Amino acid sequence: MIILGIDVGGSGIKGAPVDVSTGRLVHDRFRLVTPPGAHPGDVAATVRAVTEQFSWRGPIGLAMPFRVKEGVAKTAANIDDSWIGTNARKLFAKATGCKVAVINDADAAGLAEITFGAGKDHRGTVLVLTVGTGIGSSLFVNSRLVPNTELGHLRMRGTIAEAWAANSARKRDALTWRAWAERFQAYLSYAEFLLDPDLIVLGGGISRPKRTAQYLHLLKTSAELVPALLQNEAGIIGAACAARKLRK
Ligand code: BGC
Repeated sequence: MIILGIDVGGSGIKGAPVDVSTGRLVHDRFRLVTPPGAHPGDVAATVRAVTEQFSWRGPIGLAMPFRVKEGVAKTAANIDDSWIGTNARKLFAKATGCKVAVINDADAAGLAEITFGAGKDHRGTVLVLTVGTGIGSSLFVNSRLVPNTELGHLRMRGTIAEAWAANSARKRDALTWRAWAERFQAYLSYAEFLLDPDLIVLGGGISRPKRTAQYLHLLKTSAELVPALLQNEAGIIGAACAARKLRK
């Protein structure tokens, strides 16, 4: 079954048709710039443009950077506040004329990693963290997703964890990789204290091999700690998987 997966991020909206039985993209991904402010109507128009690129009529899975329940956005960090309370599923269905499923972006990336990537065949408690502008989290217990965990919003050092330990904080505060790894270590230790996972998968931009070489050896965890395998494509693949139950 082929499903269009679309990942809505702070800087880009990326989509590709995905074979959800293999996790492979069946076309190159297509990317448009996220409209400034990321207001719901503008994002919906850009999502529509992505679907038009593929002349898409089938089901669509969308990964969004907010907590989502029954298609409705419950939070909005690094995206316009007017998303809160918006029925994103209805909005995107209307804009595209297609059946739509909406999932948190970190949950989507986690779903892809647990099904096809670094978490494949791992039972027990698996925590997937996506580290970029924010920190996204997804939690699996015996391969079952516990949705909307939002562990990037844990409070630390008088602020929220992602404002202090995400990759954007490393850039903003001009930290060396070693100095950033010290912060991220404190965050990981806190997450481990709360959940005692068996495996932690690190995703997002920092999971590229060139990047992991800078800091992975500095981090110490009780859980096995591994970089994500699907990197930039995880959100698209997981979003498509989340729409598996939809029919045309
Ligand atoms: C949002 C999460 C999202 C993460 C990664 C956080 O700011 O609250 O919902 O998963 O960023 O995009």
